[in-house]
Amino acid sequence: MRTIKKDIINKFKLYVSSGKVKFYKRYGMRFVMGKREGSFISDIDGKKQLLNLHCNGGVFNLGHRNRELIEILNNAMKMYDIGNHHLISKPRAELAEYISYLMPEDLNYTIFGVSGGEAIDTAIKIARGYTGKRKIISAKGGYHGHTGLALAAGDKKYREPFNSSSSDFLQVEFNNINSLEEKIDRETAAVIFETIPATLGMPIADNDYFKKVKRICEKNGALLILDEVQSGLGRTGKLWAFEHFDVVPDIVVLGKGLSGGIYPITATIIRKNLEKIFKKDPFIHISTFGGAEPGAVVAKRVLEIVSNESFLKSVNLKSELFSLYFDKLKEKDQGFIKGLRRIGLMMGIELKDDFSGPAMTKAAFDKGVLLVYANNDKSIVQLLPPLTIGEEEIELSFELLEKSVKRAKIIRYLLKIIGGSS
Ligand SMILES: Cc1ncc(COP(=O)(O)O)c(C=O)c1O
Repeated sequence: MRTIKKDIINKFKLYVSSGKVKFYKRYGMRFVMGKREGSFISDIDGKKQLLNLHCNGGVFNLGHRNRELIEILNNAMKMYDIGNHHLISKPRAELAEYISYLMPEDLNYTIFGVSGGEAIDTAIKIARGYTGKRKIISAKGGYHGHTGLALAAGDKKYREPFNSSSSDFLQVEFNNINSLEEKIDRETAAVIFETIPATLGMPIADNDYFKKVKRICEKNGALLILDEVQSGLGRTGKLWAFEHFDVVPDIVVLGKGLSGGIYPITATIIRKNLEKIFKKDPFIHISTFGGAEPGAVVAKRVLEIVSNESFLKSVNLKSELFSLYFDKLKEKDQGFIKGLRRIGLMMGIELKDDFSGPAMTKAAFDKGVLLVYANNDKSIVQLLPPLTIGEEEIELSFELLEKSVKRAKIIRYLLKIIGGSS
């Protein structure tokens, strides 16, 4: 098995990404995804197991290889293939109807995609097509994907190496109304924010922030797009994260967890009146694989599960349990651990400084936990356990996190000396 693993790493280095292999070698993280089940993933040689407390930003909200979803996919495969985007489709129609039922007000129409970036591009295209304007405002340090318009709306560190900055895209401070008021004007087509900006380290906006944002958008004839690729689907203890802020956007974008972790699918949900831009030419926007039929069947079941009241209640109970354990952990390590940003099971651990997030990520890996620091605020480690995580697994998480913190302090010190990160 050792040579198989070595071979795979070598092939990855030669044919997928030499940079990634170099990075993981540097940090002593030789891991190739092998067996996976529920809250855990194992190295391909079976020698290391990681408790997944990141879930790839929510892809694995319902755990790895969720058995019910696999059965649903297997059954769907007996009937369906990708489908044909030129034709009318039963699974797409039924999924879109269900999304409309779960969304508030007249968020009635869904355009399906394959990736989150594609779904964000679609949202921005629709906003521009509908308003006839070009300007897009987003958050500094935000992240919406690596495709064209999504990239332009994200933080400059992702855009600049690819010459993708555009004077039509402006950035403002998140959760700062004055900053938005300074930049928005009648030329603005849309304001796009992640409801909880994950890559920025899960800052939680003031209660009335989004309401004010919506009002300012309306005053300027701009649409409000909320990116719920990570924060939607029950992650925050409510089905949609925007429900915490008493606001209804004009466009909502869903991704990651909608796939059930087994079949890629994303969705851009728009208010009924926005659909008129497709009336003249309904084929003006297409996605060959968007809303592929087996994926649509899986996504519908995902939505049934995460919208169930008792499921959402369990997310909130688990969130309280995380908070209780966290307080104990913090008591022991006041200097290194500063606090917990928490809304349901969308959490970010605030650490000492910008060296601490990378140090904690590496230390957690060594101790058997998969965590990822927030790339646009490296003092934060993102904490996104599966929504299906069990109580015993939560207890285990904190046993491992306590060990990780001890190790992280040493790694932080080393990183500081060699200037390894940040
Ligand atoms: C908030 C948010 N929006 C959009 C995206 C882009 O999704 P994808 O990687 O599927 O293109 C991501 C991916 O991490 C994300 O976290």
